[in-house]
Amino acid sequence: MPDHGSLDVEAIRSHFAFPARGRVVTNNAASTQPPRELVSLLGDLVPEYENVHRGQSRASRTTTARFEAAYDTIAAFIHAPSRRGIVICRNTTEANNAVMHMLMTELRDGDNVVATLLEHNSNYVPWYGLCREILPRFGVRVEYRLARFDPASGELDLDHLAQLVDARTKLVCCTGASNFLGTRTPLPVIREVARHSGYPQPDGSRGSFLLVDGAQLVPSTHVDVQALDVDFLSFSFHKLLAPFGVGVLYGRERLLEAARPFLYGGDMIAEGRVTPERVDYNALPWKFAAGTPNVLGTILSAQAIRLLVDLALNPDRHRYFGRERALVQAEVREAMARIGAHGRRLTRRALDGLARIDRLRVYGPADERRRTALVAFNVEGWNPMDLAEALDAFGIEARAGCHCATLAHHALGLTPPVSCRLSFYLYNTEDEVDRATSAVAAVVRGLSPSPRWARATARLRPAPAAGRSSGRWRWRRGRGWCHGAHEGQPHGGQVNHVPEPEPDDGRPARGSV
Ligand SMILES: Cc1ncc(COP(=O)(O)O)c(C=O)c1O
Repeated sequence: MPDHGSLDVEAIRSHFAFPARGRVVTNNAASTQPPRELVSLLGDLVPEYENVHRGQSRASRTTTARFEAAYDTIAAFIHAPSRRGIVICRNTTEANNAVMHMLMTELRDGDNVVATLLEHNSNYVPWYGLCREILPRFGVRVEYRLARFDPASGELDLDHLAQLVDARTKLVCCTGASNFLGTRTPLPVIREVARHSGYPQPDGSRGSFLLVDGAQLVPSTHVDVQALDVDFLSFSFHKLLAPFGVGVLYGRERLLEAARPFLYGGDMIAEGRVTPERVDYNALPWKFAAGTPNVLGTILSAQAIRLLVDLALNPDRHRYFGRERALVQAEVREAMARIGAHGRRLTRRALDGLARIDRLRVYGPADERRRTALVAFNVEGWNPMDLAEALDAFGIEARAGCHCATLAHHALGLTPPVSCRLSFYLYNTEDEVDRATSAVAAVVRGLSPSPRWARATARLRPAPAAGRSSGRWRWRRGRGWCHGAHEGQPHGGQVNHVPEPEPDDGRPARGSV
């Protein structure tokens, strides 16, 4: 693995509000935190707030230009040939469903769709619904098939995948990385398997389409859709520093051109070409932008990517954020390589820390280079929900549940299908990983946060809103919470003030099953 420059994590943290609250944010595989710049950008955009493609005012034209430029940024980030291949959706789930809708009328009786047991439900349940509920009503029989993974290593069983793919496989769907096991899938190999299936596509080409669910891969890896030669790629911006509500479906242009629209309505039609007899559709990408879009969310999402690259390369300078400069591929690649390398360091540390805990089983590959920056585990005798709640008392934000990776939990024989997960992003420190793993160790040993720990954590949590007059509460190093607008911005490193967990004598272990 090439050696890349490292991230300036302390400087990166100063761009975020959460460290001042004493939060150890370790649920980043679900959603990441928004940097201050994005929060203020939202305020800056509001005075010029207008709808897009629907007004002659300067405000509408400015907003439209920003909105359209966001498509260019997103296309550049994944090295798509142009904005024409970008479909803005609500999230990865909607993007995967959009592919399902596009193919709904294209699948022929006897076809199949191949997915894997590593999938998030958003890349399995749509295919279940299509094959089991929708198509049978039209007398069309289409089968879905699920490739196994090795329970010990968490690696996708490529031989099994290759056995499942045949000349009736219209589509291969695969996650780029599992949100439970962390496993990265070998996409170039999967591409080859799909390419050589022999499926006769209507345009005369042979081979199965490939849909990659990039929700866990894109936030920490440079995904180049042309180099990977994917037909479809889905991902969500709320895992990439942006606020909730925006996701992307990248589609190969000729496929989007030929596809039926996902949603029908306004703005996706060719200007004026709607009559009682015939409707013509807009050019790409607007053919897939029916109705009023999430205008501000899309603009903020594109700026989140620009800021992500800035933070990774030099957190003290905005070279892309708030500017019109096109993203340079080499810089995106370097930025994502640094984020990936940081994630691997944290993951290694977490794996090592958790390995010291008795009766704890970590799922997925042992080698951090085979994983994204998350670690899911169970402790014998512990309900993971109780474990996550107990960790919260130590200030550690873990997540317990099936993580919507229900198939993989079942495949591992986990009953109920649940696990506890810690997941990291570019702003997490090694110290936080150590605190998280030592908190797991403390909880499992039956310890509770010591009064000193509880006091310190409480000190860093938000001051109560009641009784506030004006100004804002801010954390000042060495001074605790200060009230008043003049107190200056907190810096991100102060979580180090929270002491390590200590035994609280005589307290019983919580939540054993
Ligand atoms: C691999 C994977 N796919 C899909 C999703 C669904 O993403 P969203 O909730 O943004 O639709 C997630 C969410 O965690 C995920 O991890």
